[in-house]
Amino acid sequence: MHALILGSSGDIGTGIAKQLAEKGWSLYLHYNNNQERISELITELHEKYPKQEFIPVKFDMVNDNVLVLTRQIFTLDAIIFAQGNTYYKLLVDIEEEEIDSLWKIHIKLPILILKELQDKLAESKSGRVVFIGSIYGKVGSAMEVVYSTVKGAMSSFADAYAKEVASLGISVNVVAPGAVDTKMNQEFSSEDLESIREEIPANRLAKPDEIADLVGYLVDMKSNYLTGQTIYFAGGWLL
Ligand SMILES: NC(=O)c1ccc[n+]([C@@H]2O[C@H](COP(=O)([O-])OP(=O)(O)OC[C@H]3O[C@@H](n4cnc5c(N)ncnc54)[C@H](OP(=O)(O)O)[C@@H]3O)[C@@H](O)[C@H]2O)c1
Repeated sequence: MHALILGSSGDIGTGIAKQLAEKGWSLYLHYNNNQERISELITELHEKYPKQEFIPVKFDMVNDNVLVLTRQIFTLDAIIFAQGNTYYKLLVDIEEEEIDSLWKIHIKLPILILKELQDKLAESKSGRVVFIGSIYGKVGSAMEVVYSTVKGAMSSFADAYAKEVASLGISVNVVAPGAVDTKMNQEFSSEDLESIREEIPANRLAKPDEIADLVGYLVDMKSNYLTGQTIYFAGGWLL
């Protein structure tokens, strides 16, 4: 079994990679700038699971052609889209290239990647696609209006695409976290993070490993009957 994890060099992507490797998957580990993190991850995974394959894949989702990525992928059973970025600013202050980057990274390139790789995913008759969305795709957030927009579009895309590929055995779902303890939230002060924690009924941020557990379940499922869903994983926050 082979999975492609977009954003393996991120905190959530690394958690997913470790979880899937433990379950016996071979992995295409995507990164953009953080080659060092992927090299360390591959060394760790090779030592623990010497019979599996761990293949680094560099790809810039803003500037590269989709074929740069898809030409490096041979056999494939699952794709997990765990890459992402955000800009924390008012809509009136966001630059056009920042809007383009959010659109390309979260929506346009995932769609182009699926167009190219769908035939490979369909071969096993149990292909799996999982997106890491966001609770903001449902409730929306001030200061992250365009980010909320693309995360909402991710759920709409999964809803529609799931219907198109169910007969091929492919399931398509979104895991939509609330606040997760990762470097994406590093720009917030500890006081800001503390006030977010106080708003969350579960009284803490999620851990990347918890997101990885749910993704592990979705890609391992024997049937494709759970499909087209957005699963909110937010400790009761904003729901
Ligand atoms: N953290 C949270 O609280 C939270 C909450 C809800 C949803 N999410 C979502 O979860 C996903 C992962 O977030 P995270 O917290 O793990 O973020 P992270 O640690 O900042 O990782 C971001 C990942 O995206 C990749 N990336 C960024 N720009 C890219 C580009 N131009 N081309 C290709 N890849 C690019 C990064 O690659 P390099 O580092 O190699 O450049 C990295 O692998 C995102 O979709 C995010 O929106 C996060």
